[in-house]
Amino acid sequence: MPTTPKIAILPGDGIGPEIAAAAVRLLEHVGDFELTEHEIGGASIDAHGTALTDEVLEACRGADAVLLAAVGGPKWDAAVAADPSAPRPEQGLLGLRKGLGLFANLRPVRPSPALLDASPLKRERIEGTDLLVVRELTGGIYFGDSGRDGDTAHDDCAYSVDEIERIARIAFESARTKVTSVDKANVLETSRLWRETVTRLHADELPDVPLEHLLVDNAAMQLVSRPADFDVIVTENLFGDILSDEAAMLTGSLGMLPSASVGGDGPGLFEPVHGSAPDIAGTGSANPLATFGSVALMLRHGLGLDDEAAAVESAIDRALDGGLRTADLGGDATTEDATRAVLAQI
Ligand code: IPM
Ligand code: MG
Repeated sequence: MPTTPKIAILPGDGIGPEIAAAAVRLLEHVGDFELTEHEIGGASIDAHGTALTDEVLEACRGADAVLLAAVGGPKWDAAVAADPSAPRPEQGLLGLRKGLGLFANLRPVRPSPALLDASPLKRERIEGTDLLVVRELTGGIYFGDSGRDGDTAHDDCAYSVDEIERIARIAFESARTKVTSVDKANVLETSRLWRETVTRLHADELPDVPLEHLLVDNAAMQLVSRPADFDVIVTENLFGDILSDEAAMLTGSLGMLPSASVGGDGPGLFEPVHGSAPDIAGTGSANPLATFGSVALMLRHGLGLDDEAAAVESAIDRALDGGLRTADLGGDATTEDATRAVLAQI
């Protein structure tokens, strides 16, 4: 029997603590884990004046996996509006991704059969959708030089061949039928390097996987008009951020989409795609399913516990089949109801 896996739990802000508490109950139900909780984002700013302390980054490095709920909120946005040099909660998340070297963000989009009618898109459009967004996570405009000079602001975007190759490799290795590489090569130099590099890597290493290139504006349109035709979508940091929120709606709600960030030598980071939803924080009505889905990804990709991961995923599907609908899905189930419904299926 291997040692008990260590999981660092980062509840963060807004609905974060509520859904993190639900995830802890799920974890305690499916196995034996050593769980430790740490502050990140606004909670860490309030306690320590910074969104991510060295101690928390070290604690995460020492864990086998990290589960994060959500960061951010109007309180800290207002502080930044008053003083642009004030710390921002999002810096905690970005610092953690960079600090753990997590360059690959995997966002699987597979609408649960029970939710085919919950999406704002017609059932016949989304039926059969089973795609994976592979988002580059530690480069591009998110991490370039930025600043202000008088009434001008700038955010630089840079990508190196190495950064593009390593994310493209993950995309090709994850593909079942094809890879769609998304860029803006008709305008951006970084996108032309992206397209050249993906094309060369494909020819050199994995020529058997079909590859197509789409411009990001066209991809945004195709994603809602023919979502079932996609398999793996690989793209840079900012485009992946935008397209994955769009793709989330194929599953009925942003409250359904899990994600896994991997690629470093240490632990992976697992988090729902949605944010801290400050408008409903404290009401007990947040949908915990994206976090439960992230727990499943953590069990599989972070801890090698495939059976437990499958048990969680099928419990989520069965709970939805049984009629579970939180407010974001048009129902009135609370976080507590949703947690019980899923636990009851394991
Ligand atoms: C996401 C979020 C983050 C991002 C924010 C909170 C910094 O939108 O994980 O998609 O932009 O990466
Ligand atoms: Mg986002």
